[in-house]
Amino acid sequence: MKIIHAKSYADLSRKAANIISAQVILKPNCVLGLATGSTPLGTYKQLIEWYNKDDIDFSQVTTFNLDEYVGLDPADPQSYHAYMRENLFDHVNLRKNAVHVPDGMVEDLADACKRYDALIQSHGGIDLQLLGIGKNGHIAFNEPGEAFEKDTHIVTLETSTLQANRRFFGTEEDMPKHAITMGIRMIMQAKKILLIADGESKRDILNKALYGPISAQVPASILQLHPDLTVVCHVEDKT
Ligand code: F6R
Repeated sequence: MKIIHAKSYADLSRKAANIISAQVILKPNCVLGLATGSTPLGTYKQLIEWYNKDDIDFSQVTTFNLDEYVGLDPADPQSYHAYMRENLFDHVNLRKNAVHVPDGMVEDLADACKRYDALIQSHGGIDLQLLGIGKNGHIAFNEPGEAFEKDTHIVTLETSTLQANRRFFGTEEDMPKHAITMGIRMIMQAKKILLIADGESKRDILNKALYGPISAQVPASILQLHPDLTVVCHVEDKT
């Protein structure tokens, strides 16, 4: 495990974008696993900036996102589909058919989960998986207490996750209560993992995840067993 302490959020974003950029340079047709949330916003912004300077080319890259809310149309501005279009896909030369976000609108969700895993496998798995971490230790939407060996599946979101993400919705009632998420098994099969964490509110959970016992109560703790984990964090106490 490599832990890189960034000086600021901007520094974290540059460092994470550098690692992604290196992956794309080394393997132009790589498969990237992507995350949503607040933390990767600066990373995506940096990648777009470098794309505009002709420093990075996504034309052969394939992407798979970690998760999506169940029941939100891809056109819904709160959907992770919309987030990805707004914050990355619409601004770089990723091919339209090379970007994948789980579909939370299909009738047969169990089948959609199976097809998502099969599609990732058919691309040879994920070369580099970008992850954020929830305050309760979740990665993707794998909430505490879930089995580590799950594949893509449907989850009921925890109250703390609903509260953390409520800022994007009008009220908690408006929020979808379920999500489709890549499972920990697939995440752990990624060849490289890049975990990013920003802010003091993530310090305790990051410590537990990286140095505490490996436990389903802290889903991110399983990452200690990954052979190629890089953590870029900015979680210092400013005092
Ligand atoms: C998002 C995702 C989540 C977030 C986590 C942290 O696709 O899978 O696990 O990475 O909730 O979110 P932020 O970055 O908003 O603190």
